[in-house]
Amino acid sequence: MRRGSVLALLGLGLLAGGIAAAVAVLLPWLPTPASREAGRIDFVFWFTTVICIVIFAVVAAGLVYAVINFRAAPDDDSDGPPTHGHTGLEIAWTVIPTMLVVAIGIVSAIVLAKNDALAKDTLRVNVTAQQFAWSFSYPDGNNLTSGTLRVPVNRSLLLTFTSKDVIHSFWVPEWGQKQDTVPGIHPTLHITPDRLGRYPVICTELCGLGHATMRTTAIVMTQAAFDKWLKGQTKATSSPNAAVSGAAVFKNNGCSACHTLTAAGATGKVGPDLDKLPQSAQQANQPLQQFVETSITDPEAYIAPGYPKNVMPQTFKSLPKAQLDALVQYLIQSSKKG
Ligand code: CUA
Repeated sequence: MRRGSVLALLGLGLLAGGIAAAVAVLLPWLPTPASREAGRIDFVFWFTTVICIVIFAVVAAGLVYAVINFRAAPDDDSDGPPTHGHTGLEIAWTVIPTMLVVAIGIVSAIVLAKNDALAKDTLRVNVTAQQFAWSFSYPDGNNLTSGTLRVPVNRSLLLTFTSKDVIHSFWVPEWGQKQDTVPGIHPTLHITPDRLGRYPVICTELCGLGHATMRTTAIVMTQAAFDKWLKGQTKATSSPNAAVSGAAVFKNNGCSACHTLTAAGATGKVGPDLDKLPQSAQQANQPLQQFVETSITDPEAYIAPGYPKNVMPQTFKSLPKAQLDALVQYLIQSSKKG
């Protein structure tokens, strides 16, 4: 190989690598970490990114060099010279990527093992995923259930996941690590939030029509504020006179991800508009109360015109009777106002 060619390839490689590195470093791809585990996850990201930039630089240099130097003249219609494989090259481009992928696998395994190392005094939170909502319950707080994830700062969490229907994936970008929720098994995840604030909880596994709306908020609070919240909530729900709030049932089951209901500030467009329930019941030729209840417990019984089948989850038939009744009443009241 001529010295000029080597220099040209080297220059093109440095240029391509420089551009890729600038794109990686100058754009804010990852949020500021807010958990003790997030730094290690970021390291895996960067480890992989550096490998990708080097490979990109090598490939881009070869490609651009070939395009410039070996292009056919406009009027050259002849065949190229017959070439045969190059055994050494083939071994190299098999062995090197294998080693790199194995290295990424080893680094990831070490990071996941370190992040999952059992911490002392964990706060247990059970996370339930369903189309298209998250709910969180606190076994150490009377199994209180909430549609937002409230946790104390600097305390290790043990999240245990349950999916009621399909595979979802739990992700708080600022906390770093993702976890799939798989029906039939109960994966766990250790996270230690170390910064106060509100962070998005996102579903990162395509799980149906409402996937993009399957979001809620994680609120990291001081231990004192968290204790106060837990105590207040537990008292409210365990009091024998406490009426089950239909508004809370609506919120905790993620109805707003798919439906519009002005009273709840919900603007979902996946399913029918719940402000128009009386009109819909009329259209279905059913008494309002029966229509609303059946639509929740047996959604396929009647499909509103213009909406597809098998989109509304069938899991709501397992709602406790008191919650179902409260939800039905709430919907009827709200839609009459709306
Ligand atoms: Cu749940 Cu996407």
